[in-house]
Amino acid sequence: MSNSPVRLGVLISGSGSNLQAIIDNCETGIIPAQVAVVISSRGDAYGLERAKNHKVPAIHIAREEFLDDAAYNHAILEKLQEYGVELVIMAGYMRLLGKEILDAYHNRVMNIHPALLPSFAGAHGIKDALDYGVKVTGVTVHFANEVYDEGPIILQEAVPIQEGDTEDTLAERIHALEHVIYPKAIKLYCEGKLKIEGKKVRITVSDTEHFIDQQI
Ligand code: GAR
Repeated sequence: MSNSPVRLGVLISGSGSNLQAIIDNCETGIIPAQVAVVISSRGDAYGLERAKNHKVPAIHIAREEFLDDAAYNHAILEKLQEYGVELVIMAGYMRLLGKEILDAYHNRVMNIHPALLPSFAGAHGIKDALDYGVKVTGVTVHFANEVYDEGPIILQEAVPIQEGDTEDTLAERIHALEHVIYPKAIKLYCEGKLKIEGKKVRITVSDTEHFIDQQI
């Protein structure tokens, strides 16, 4: 891997707090990467403002403007390629990523989910875990595949559910953890420390290689 910063393309649909954490970690040099472009499926996503505040190109691509999903995904792929994106980061992007993009960026698309996958996949991971009554939930960062919230897991961390937790109080702790764990996973990728073997992701730390290590 070269020494120049890895070019990230971040896909969002909403607030973009994970995008902000990633931009901040790039700007301080903690992650050897730069956000080359932000693409949102929604025009009113606050994440677009966050990108503009940091002089990052911010683009809204609306599904309604295309005949079908394939054409929509092609338009996204074209933008990613135009900006020389090397790693695609789904950060609250609430659509299934198309095969067109997954093929072009094979094993180079990451996603974050606010639960311990494979539990509570979908758009309401925090609420679903709380409603189910589990005692522990958490955060997962994984490589994306053609199934929503599925693919080889890079990092996971647990968040205990406390007596009296509401969706808001739990979301606050989950989001705080997301803002640490996602930059950590991206950093590992940029440093060439992630190796996918089937469904598993090996993480290389110094000269030892082992499965998921949370103490990096
Ligand atoms: C995050 O909590 C992320 O884990 C979740 O959307 C939120 C986006 O927040 N993604 C999913 O639920 C994917 N299934 P953000 O826009 O503030 O980063």
